Amino acid sequence: MTGLFPEGFRWGAATAAYQIEGAVAAGGRTPSIWDTFSHTPGAILGGDTGDVACDHYHRYREDVALMAKLGLADYRFSISWTRVLPVDGRSVNQAGLDFYSELVDELLGHGVRPLITLYHWDLPQYLQDRGGWTNRETAQRFADFASIIAERLGDRVPSFTTLNEPWCSAFLGHASGEHAPGLRDNAAAFTAAHHLLLAHGLGVQALRAGLPAGRDVSITLNPAVIRPASAAQQDQEAAELADLVGNRVFLDPLFHARLSPELVAATASVTDWAFVREGDLGLISSPIDFLGVNYYTPAIVGRAPVEQGNPWPGIDGVFAHPHTDPQTAMGWQVEPEGLTNLLIALSHERPGLPMVVTENGSAYPDTVDAHGQIFDGERSCYLRAHVDAVAAAIQAGVDVRGYLVWSLLDNFEWAWGYSQRFGIIHVDFATQERRLKESGKAYAQIIAAHGLGSDTPDSSC
Ligand code: FCB
Repeated sequence: MTGLFPEGFRWGAATAAYQIEGAVAAGGRTPSIWDTFSHTPGAILGGDTGDVACDHYHRYREDVALMAKLGLADYRFSISWTRVLPVDGRSVNQAGLDFYSELVDELLGHGVRPLITLYHWDLPQYLQDRGGWTNRETAQRFADFASIIAERLGDRVPSFTTLNEPWCSAFLGHASGEHAPGLRDNAAAFTAAHHLLLAHGLGVQALRAGLPAGRDVSITLNPAVIRPASAAQQDQEAAELADLVGNRVFLDPLFHARLSPELVAATASVTDWAFVREGDLGLISSPIDFLGVNYYTPAIVGRAPVEQGNPWPGIDGVFAHPHTDPQTAMGWQVEPEGLTNLLIALSHERPGLPMVVTENGSAYPDTVDAHGQIFDGERSCYLRAHVDAVAAAIQAGVDVRGYLVWSLLDNFEWAWGYSQRFGIIHVDFATQERRLKESGKAYAQIIAAHGLGSDTPDSSC
């Protein structure tokens, strides 16, 4: 598959603030909803929190040096909103901003391009106290935050993403309760989804107004690759419903400036959508420069509840079904064709809009051997197969501009705490020692060869 990646295609890695930074009270930072949630008994596996995480706040120089060693062209990270705006209002905390400004300089000094995600789920707790994403006002506060970041970092940062995976914020945060703020209220989830989209629209405008020319503005989605559990009519129906609640809810406003009539009909007993006001859809569909796509695994859904399957958040009577082998430690089916097909399908939503794979990766139970090495062959194979899947989409004519692996470092995996390791760099959470895994070496090779996937000579996939 070598040679299929166009010149200028960018290789990178991604992280998120709450998952790696730690130092939750340093430099004037105040709690986000994830600080509150992770300290809620029973919310996180093993009672883990992001209090220390990878201590990246203090170790970012070492981490940037590792990125340079891997040959990363791009590094996608997010900004902790409460480091920059620790108290309600517009007064900027210089110490918080300085951290990101120094990180940006360190990256540029190592030839790594910084890509900023403004919101990777860590809403200020002070905004949650006023209703969070169920309060329309939060969208405006996000736009204020976006203006500040554009003004202070826009001189050096070429690319800004408004939101990471608003589906998770809305539906895991407000319907299934697996994520902060931990609500179980379908109506609240749809309200939150709309206000997140509004925040994106207002955020795009704020970024365009505050950034110098030539900067990219985007949003990252995790569109669900949905398949019915069987050919039975009821499972087909379940797949259609999951598609409405998982995909059309975001894709229609963003790319077609409309609400899906099928979604409105399917949710009639839950919400009347009165929170969508005149002008909102125009704002939400503001042009962007690329779409960020996160993909890990497909979703298999059916009407019948099954053991080890969760209800599909946001709609009654649809259930996720267990995956078949091969699976990662998350129980996620490894299906690289899902990524190819997703990229192809998305290319029809707004023809001509480039895409970047902003997250893709796998968790496995890594072990450090007596020589301090981590032989994570399964992760290397996952990586190669998905790089090939991106190549296949490009070959099919899709304009994909980059691939960012999730994740640079093992980190705080939300409700799973530290039990799931996604890094290409191993982190010993007791000592904070970083060790390059074999998959990190494989990725460095892929980058050096500009996309060598499963054809790597020493690959045993
Ligand atoms: C995505 C999140 C990211 C990480 C991966 C495994 O949904 O955006 O923070 O947790 O899953």
